[in-house]
Amino acid sequence: MTQQEFPLSLITALRAATRVVVLTGAGVSAESGIPTFRDKQTGLWENFDAAELATRYAFDRDPAFVWGWYEWRRAAVQKAQPNPAHLAIATMETRVPQFTLITQNVDDLHERAGSRNILHLHGEISRPYCEGCRQSHVFPRATPKIALGGEERIEPPRCQSCGARIRPGVVWFGEALPDGAWASARESARQCDVFFCIGTSSLVQPAASLTDLAIDAGATTIQVNPDSTDIDDLVTFSLRGPAGTVLPQLVAETWNIPQ
Ligand code: OAD
Repeated sequence: MTQQEFPLSLITALRAATRVVVLTGAGVSAESGIPTFRDKQTGLWENFDAAELATRYAFDRDPAFVWGWYEWRRAAVQKAQPNPAHLAIATMETRVPQFTLITQNVDDLHERAGSRNILHLHGEISRPYCEGCRQSHVFPRATPKIALGGEERIEPPRCQSCGARIRPGVVWFGEALPDGAWASARESARQCDVFFCIGTSSLVQPAASLTDLAIDAGATTIQVNPDSTDIDDLVTFSLRGPAGTVLPQLVAETWNIPQ
């Protein structure tokens, strides 16, 4: 593993920070084997049409296809393990007085890595809920068969309380973000000293606008991504590399933690 050189001003800003916000996207879970959305060849939207899957309209038109696809992803998440990036973010939380993790990811790998103060902007795949009474439902592990495909049709189950259809616990395109999580995310982005933007293409709104809020508020902004994005020139530091390599090194160097 190559040791990355971090600018001293970055390390100094991080050590001095009392309020740190981390915004994560699909790239933080890539090294756990969960595909991102927009990466070439491996991205989910390369092989599946987002409009056919991640909208209210798609679910109404073909519920079994959409439910089957989300069950396939739920099975992939259940099989996956947190990677060194999730663990480094959890360690950071223990070193910073006020720490907020904002994630666009619907997996629970941050929780399983030990992160505590987490805002899920796009919902949670493990928490499907009833379209009628909105009650959350927990289902047993998805079958291994589902984990292999992604195109298996499965009829969504019905709510045991009210009989309405159960829907995936994620936010679809065209839907509002959860009110409380979104308000807290904006507030913390406005007030932080250091804002990280990790493993996200920064293309999806309104989540991406959090980085603008932090920049406008004068925070030190740090992007971690192996590829270039539209915000490369807007952030204070752009660290090129996989999050699972860059973050453990950064956390170790900042807080003198032996690796
Ligand atoms: P994207 O797939 O748009 O972007 C993933 C980013 O992760 C890309 O910029 C990659 O270069 C980067 N990446 C890949 N591997 C990485 C690694 N090992 N370390 C760090 N970065 C890596 O995913 P998001 O930005 O999360 O929304 O997408 C945002 C939203 O669009 C998702 O939450 C989802 C999607 O449609 C909904 O489903 C509502």
